[in-house]
Amino acid sequence: MHTLRITQPDDWHLHLRDGDALDTTVPHTARHFGRAIVMPNLKPPIANVEMALDYRQRILEVVPEGMPFSPLMTLYLTDKLSVSEIAKAQENEFIHAIKYYPAGATTNSENGVTDINAVMPVLEEMARLGLPLLIHGEVTDADIDIFDREEKFIDTILSPLLDRIPELKIVLEHITTSQAVQFVSEQNTNIAATITPHHLLYNRNDLLAGGVRPHFYCLPILKRDIHQKALGDAAISGNSRFFLGTDSAPHARHTKETDCGCAGIYSAAGAIELYTEFFDQQNALDKLEGFASHFGADFYGLPRNTAELVLEKKAWSMPQEFRFGDYTVVPMRAGEEVEWSVTEVTP
Ligand code: DOR
Ligand code: ZN
Repeated sequence: MHTLRITQPDDWHLHLRDGDALDTTVPHTARHFGRAIVMPNLKPPIANVEMALDYRQRILEVVPEGMPFSPLMTLYLTDKLSVSEIAKAQENEFIHAIKYYPAGATTNSENGVTDINAVMPVLEEMARLGLPLLIHGEVTDADIDIFDREEKFIDTILSPLLDRIPELKIVLEHITTSQAVQFVSEQNTNIAATITPHHLLYNRNDLLAGGVRPHFYCLPILKRDIHQKALGDAAISGNSRFFLGTDSAPHARHTKETDCGCAGIYSAAGAIELYTEFFDQQNALDKLEGFASHFGADFYGLPRNTAELVLEKKAWSMPQEFRFGDYTVVPMRAGEEVEWSVTEVTP
């Protein structure tokens, strides 16, 4: 198959950043995606409805003409988020979820949750109102090996949380292990998971074998190939509880190419094309549309997009870098070929 027509996809996990970074990040996503769940880990974090609505306006200001893109906003769960703010968020048509970062887990997570018991009343209110919790599922204990942090989180935090509040709607974000695939598959339909293009296409050898490649460093970190395989099988399975979320997370080049580099892979410049490449490699192009364009909307209780995207198997070369405010950002596949192109977005 060399041409593919699918319902326009959505990105259910995206970092757009703020300020003049938006001039780059927003058009890259808005070109192809109808909507995106926008992460709130700014400095300071998007911790209440008012901040989320202001941030939404800043995003909308740079959406290019003719690209009807809708940012779906989220709030950052801090120890201080109140039950009344949850009710306010639920009522607001532009706010779709609350993001849980364990304190210290990743970029700008220092305001995250220090103790899950402290936020239990907020989580119970979310369950009551049907507002989804988006989870960065890694423990942060210094003595837990970085490759084991997702599995440990599932065992010690997530599983007890589901026992305690089984009605809570959860997206386990950017899963990276066979344990996460298995766990989500075995739960009730209140829990789903997003999968990134980089965790489908790469494993820890790409990060570490033959030299350290800082542009492959992200969190949760790339795992070994057996986990990559499990994620791939989940993505092409047609199981509606696994769907697209890029976790595209740009950092300026100099903050990654340094002795303590930031975590994050910038995939937005070629995201749907890279996912298509993966599904093509697996001979599973017929499963792409569900994963990219149907299952996420269904889980969030939103209508599917009506626009369509046409993809062709026609290679193009990803630029080495893009402007990123005063700096540059290095995209996933920089300077290399991407096998599929988007040739048309029909209204
Ligand atoms: O690699 C990552 N980058 N993982 C995250 O969880 C956060 C993200 C970021 O914001 O840079
Ligand atoms: Zn993320």
